[in-house]
Amino acid sequence: MCGIVAYLGDENAYPVLIKGLKRLEYRGYDSAGVAILKENDIALHKCKGKVSDLEAHIGDASTDGTVGIGHTRWATHGPPNDINAHPHVSGDGELAIIHNGIIENYSTLKEELINRGHKFESDTDTEVLAHLIEEVRSNTDVDLFEAVRISLNEVVGAYAIVVMDRNNPNQLIAAKKSSPLVIGIGEDGTYYVGSDATPIVEYTKNVVYLEDEEIALMDRQTGLKIKTIQNREKTPYIQELELHLEALEKGGYDYFMLKEIYEQPRSIRDCFRGRMNLQKGMIRLSGIENFEDKWTNAKRILIVACGTSWHAGLVAEYLFEDLARIPVEVEYASEFRYRNPIINEDDIVIAISQSGETADTLAAIKMAKKKGAHIFGVCNVVGSTISRETDSGCYTHAGPEIGVASTKAFTAQVTVLTLMALTVAQKRGTISPERLHRLIAEINSLPDKIEQTLASNDQIEFISEIYKDASNALYLGRGFTFPVALEGALKLKEISYIHAEGYPAAEMKHGPIALIDEEMPVFVIATQGQSYEKVVSNIQEVKARKGKIIAIVTIGDTEVKKLADHVIEIPKTDDVLVPLVSVVPLQLLSYHIAVMRGCNVDQPRNLAKSVTVE
Ligand code: AGP
Ligand code: GLU
Repeated sequence: MCGIVAYLGDENAYPVLIKGLKRLEYRGYDSAGVAILKENDIALHKCKGKVSDLEAHIGDASTDGTVGIGHTRWATHGPPNDINAHPHVSGDGELAIIHNGIIENYSTLKEELINRGHKFESDTDTEVLAHLIEEVRSNTDVDLFEAVRISLNEVVGAYAIVVMDRNNPNQLIAAKKSSPLVIGIGEDGTYYVGSDATPIVEYTKNVVYLEDEEIALMDRQTGLKIKTIQNREKTPYIQELELHLEALEKGGYDYFMLKEIYEQPRSIRDCFRGRMNLQKGMIRLSGIENFEDKWTNAKRILIVACGTSWHAGLVAEYLFEDLARIPVEVEYASEFRYRNPIINEDDIVIAISQSGETADTLAAIKMAKKKGAHIFGVCNVVGSTISRETDSGCYTHAGPEIGVASTKAFTAQVTVLTLMALTVAQKRGTISPERLHRLIAEINSLPDKIEQTLASNDQIEFISEIYKDASNALYLGRGFTFPVALEGALKLKEISYIHAEGYPAAEMKHGPIALIDEEMPVFVIATQGQSYEKVVSNIQEVKARKGKIIAIVTIGDTEVKKLADHVIEIPKTDDVLVPLVSVVPLQLLSYHIAVMRGCNVDQPRNLAKSVTVE
């Protein structure tokens, strides 16, 4: 995701834009830019880096003009650099556009536009939209409002856009689908636009939240008009903002971590958007397609990562071995790089890293690359050091993760790894078309199932209150949920400072069971599936020793309910997809316990978001 801001009024636009971009920087910060219109000339300033770098880049250049647009980027298509920064301009230089979202069919549109003589400067999907609107307007001789509407009917994907016309300083056009956009209504034909209300709230409390597939025309003289992309007039619904600025940046949540936990339905959808074809039951990952022979002939997959990303790697081991029948070894990057490992040329090394800057993971892949392995990256930050070091990869598109404790990045990583395992299984013929089709349909239903799971938040908060003073905790899982047990334990210890351990449920008998007593909360993932009966036996072993059992079960479970002190129900899903749903209650548990213990949830003590040192 990224931040968009715009201004149309009687004052200079630049101060509003630059302050608004600083307010939105938490939404994306790899590059930034502004376009300001004055006397039919668009002054375009943009560069790689943060908003402060943009200010330095602008220096003493003139920024006069009373209409302008601004953008702070979180790249999805095209690495962060000056050219790919927004705003983007149409071929004829008449239109400037800013965009938050993903134009899934941009490459098809770009090809058609190139065939019609359009020349592109950047690698972005956004620039394609600027040229498309130009092409539509020049071919149909309609006004910009209508040209944007016609163009958006050609677009597949997500967008929050603002378009500015060099020849019309009295207007701005905005449109929205899947990405957020809010319009602030000032005095006397003054308008503000933002990805959220943070750039707007100090100027006006009167806002209109655009709905999906709505387009807005803001005009100094004629006011605000809204219509749908199907050309139906809509009456603007003006609301009064209540939230304060600081809360707004967190979208009304107390901490970024909670906001990011709740973003997971959206971030998982963004992760598989444009990569799965539901009707055909197909998956397309260009990072794998472009090296198909490497994957079909791979003798072994090595996964290197740290922390939560290592847990995602462990899920990937179960996925690739179960679905694609390729041997997998998951390595702590810090261990792998120093133990002189055996790496062969037909090995594939997958590096998993949210930040794409973790020193140990970077060092591990540099070593593997030297030994001839094919390096594949699963990163969240486009253009990050690790992503640039790999031979190919797949971005997770989770958007910026501000909370130090990784949540939406983990589920986005597991989603990408699931798509990868299914793609490779399809190519190696180790999965039936029917099962592949069923799993694709099930993945598509996950955002709703996670939404359903989030609805248990109040119950989870109630349970957290009971166990917030525990000194230790044990997390148990089996099969695909064993890595989830490890992840749940890491979440609890890193933000509440309670010592917690994750264990394979069966392994508990080989030592940890000695820890069990009435003071020990035991969080068990006991969802319906392959090893359900075995996990029930493990729960009985804990109960026999008076351990407190908090079980995550499939909706409708009756057996575990008789044994556990508390159950948290989650919707049923396929065994291979359970990690994506069962981790959510554990994220919420750790969040609530940490808040109740007065911990700094977003910046836990001793931790950093990205460990760029060894
Ligand atoms: C997870 O909650 C922690 N913040 C930490 O373990 C993190 O996963 C680890 O440092 C790896 O970071 P990366 O994914 O950016 O490489
Ligand atoms: N897809 C656009 C780009 O990569 C916008 C990304 C965003 O929403 O930050 O430039």
